[in-house]
Amino acid sequence: MKITFLGHATLFIKTTKALILVDPFISGNDLAKNKINIADIKPDFILLTHAHQDHVLDVEAIAQQSNATIVSNYEITTYYEKKGFKVHPMNHGGNWNFNFGSLKYVNAIHTSSFADGTYGGQPGGFILSADDKNVYIAGDTALTYDMQLIPMTFTLDLAILPIGDNFTMGVDDAIIASDFVGCDVVLGYHFDTFGYIKIDHTQAKQKFEEADKKLYLLDVGKSIIL
Ligand code: NI
Ligand code: MN
Repeated sequence: MKITFLGHATLFIKTTKALILVDPFISGNDLAKNKINIADIKPDFILLTHAHQDHVLDVEAIAQQSNATIVSNYEITTYYEKKGFKVHPMNHGGNWNFNFGSLKYVNAIHTSSFADGTYGGQPGGFILSADDKNVYIAGDTALTYDMQLIPMTFTLDLAILPIGDNFTMGVDDAIIASDFVGCDVVLGYHFDTFGYIKIDHTQAKQKFEEADKKLYLLDVGKSIIL
């Protein structure tokens, strides 16, 4: 499985059987828009953690050109289904087997509304299981005890956690989250995109190191392979 960071909370995941895009926000991201060409992105699935603009801005353009299936909570998929897009609705605690593996939609503590004010359901995260790996994509979330439920049924190979603070967990809480989910290998996301979430990379990595954990912070367009 190859996971490419496309800036902010946008991920492009290549599994043996499917191309999966998560929370596309590229054209509005000054750190990504000149490096990533949206026209080149043709996923089979688009996973959406919640409805905020910094997670869904480029959904329609990319779904249009790729005919991808949008996977999210019921409210978000209904919103896109009404616009004619292909969707797969899920909700919290639910697991579904797809052609590439499985997805479970799990709790996140945050809010979720579209830019036009439409209710976006309750926000969530995903556990992606594919190619014999389990990856936790936390979405925008606070640190929450619900994370402790995850290692009861999944042994994670990677936890993708927000670390930018202000709107989500910051670095210190992400270190605790990494304990809660039972995974010491973390890919940080949701940082640096705008002023409120700028972080000190060196300090963040050092804090993870001191906790005997590994924090990856990828440049836009860079990947890790599991
Ligand atoms: Ni959000
Ligand atoms: Mn966000």
